[in-house]
Amino acid sequence: MSVPKHIAIIMDGNGRWAKKRGLPRNAGHTAGAKNVEKICLAAKKLGIKYLTLYAFSTENWMRPEAEVKALMKLLSGYLDKCVQTAHENKMHLRVIGDISRLDPKFQEQILEAERISSVYDDLHLTIAINYGSRDEILRAMRKVGTAIRDKELTPEEITEETFQQYLDTKDLPDPDLLIRTSGEQRLSNYLLWQLAYSEFYFTDVAWPEFDEEELKKALNVFENRDRRYGGIKEE
Ligand code: FPP
Repeated sequence: MSVPKHIAIIMDGNGRWAKKRGLPRNAGHTAGAKNVEKICLAAKKLGIKYLTLYAFSTENWMRPEAEVKALMKLLSGYLDKCVQTAHENKMHLRVIGDISRLDPKFQEQILEAERISSVYDDLHLTIAINYGSRDEILRAMRKVGTAIRDKELTPEEITEETFQQYLDTKDLPDPDLLIRTSGEQRLSNYLLWQLAYSEFYFTDVAWPEFDEEELKKALNVFENRDRRYGGIKEE
């Protein structure tokens, strides 16, 4: 079975999952966070090397304050635990997105978790927090502009490869497969540059219910896709 090296996931449907059960939205996010742990283990077991999860977008600040607070608390709690599981599972943890808008303590916690886990290579878990692809590209453009101004780079040197080095994902390969749960079929400002050649898989299953079996279904579909990069498929 050809397993994708890198899977990116839009974990959608926590709110609807909770509503269906007569629970508050935040209960859906709690269930969603628990599922992150399970999917990390399942991914590792199935031989996936990179997993990149969309946890909080640049647009998510528009949600009610109590929901934003609850999500931040969940993420920070998850990160705490993650440092433990990083050792157990030899997991390298990264965060992408503009973390400068986060609580300073949370920022420190992120940098520390990244530092501690940077020695591991079995699974690379990347969590997108205050992430938006357009924002990432604009931040990269500013860095490129600064490098040109400081004469570290010339405009002619801006190729896909050099530009990629200014993105938050500079240390990650492009995703082979994007999964979005809970029925919507759009990218919602997620990894627009990086998903240029990825396969897309959409499922109606809500994120809290997306388990190992569902992941295997996605992998099966991926395996049967005829992947092309604009050229001719290898025989
Ligand atoms: C979308 O569901 C989900 C989010 C905006 C947040 C995703 C967060 C988690 C899964 C929990 C924490 C994450 C980690 C990495 C520990 P929605 O609320 O938009 O659902 P709806 O579309 O049904 O309303």
